[in-house]
Amino acid sequence: MRLASIVGARPQLVKVAVVSRALRQLHEELIIHTGQHYDYSMSEQFFDELNIPAPDYHLGCGSGPHGAQTGRMLEAIEEVLTRERFDAVIVYGDTNSTLAGALAAAKLHIPVAHVEAGLRNFDQSMPEEINRVLSDHLSSHLFCPTETACRNLNNEGITHGVEFVGDVMYDLLLQVQPELAGRNERLLRALRLSPQSYALVTVHRAVNADSAEAMRGIAEGLNRLEMPVIFPVHPRTRARLEGYDITWEKHVHLMEPLGYLDMMALGRTAYRILTDSGGLQKEAFLLRVPCVTLREETEWVETVEAGWNVLVGTRWQDIVKAVDRPRPEPPEHNPFGEGDAAVRIAHSW
Ligand code: UD1
Repeated sequence: MRLASIVGARPQLVKVAVVSRALRQLHEELIIHTGQHYDYSMSEQFFDELNIPAPDYHLGCGSGPHGAQTGRMLEAIEEVLTRERFDAVIVYGDTNSTLAGALAAAKLHIPVAHVEAGLRNFDQSMPEEINRVLSDHLSSHLFCPTETACRNLNNEGITHGVEFVGDVMYDLLLQVQPELAGRNERLLRALRLSPQSYALVTVHRAVNADSAEAMRGIAEGLNRLEMPVIFPVHPRTRARLEGYDITWEKHVHLMEPLGYLDMMALGRTAYRILTDSGGLQKEAFLLRVPCVTLREETEWVETVEAGWNVLVGTRWQDIVKAVDRPRPEPPEHNPFGEGDAAVRIAHSW
């Protein structure tokens, strides 16, 4: 088969790293990068450290309001798909690059495969939820990371082509495990941290980053924690923070975004992870680190049900209380599959 993977944003690079490797054992695959993320630390670094094959097309679409950004991608992807011949197009996750890829392919009658299909948080005010729902309804292969995701699709009347394969980010985490211990030691030494004594934080959702009130609540919560706080800052959040007049206590360390391996290496010995990212909630669970989610809802409901994730929003009192929660009991089972999601995906053609 001749397949195209469409990526553009940081979380998609993590997913394509493992899927691409499995696909190329059996098929011909080309990578199309929309250019949604373009800073070294948001894109190229991931290609380098995860050995992702260089994109065959880089569309350079960049940032912008949703309509303009998605529109530019749609036009540029359509041009590539018209020029090349693909048996299927694979899209990943829930970003504007996902939706643009799915829409461009579907309109050209090229079958669409969605990796991480079926996730829902039932909040249509989040751009990611809109992107997920529409991409799923345009897809003929729907690769679900959890059983819940399969049920969500069935509830929307999508029953054909739905397959529970497990989570490709779990595959990747297993594959990089041997590298993490040494890297962890180096990072802790460089940052003068000891295991289980610090919090690791990320914040980038529009609903938080674009709201001064939300960011003030988060900052107050972090300022009140009695431990070092490591906070790699997404460029979107950094840009917004400049206008919010927030003072950070000395124990809160704002830094450039980290690559995938450093993030996992630091995460594995964190006392708590605080985040509004979807992927990191799940990675916290897989690393057995209790997670405090700075949102009101989640698409990774299994992590909450298992007691390893609490949804707190952005009130500082709730954040501090959740960090102080005792460590939960070990989970009874892993809802994210067997670590062979990418191989299953590759074999489905
Ligand atoms: C996007 C995804 C989000 C995902 C996140 C991961 C959508 C709607 N959202 O959000 O689901 O969790 O990626 O990171 O697709 N910027 C830079 N350099 C970059 C990238 C972004 O400076 O390399 C800044 C720009 O000011 C840009 C802003 O960040 O306007 C937002 O970037 P955008 O790609 O639109 O959305 P994200 O917030 O990154």
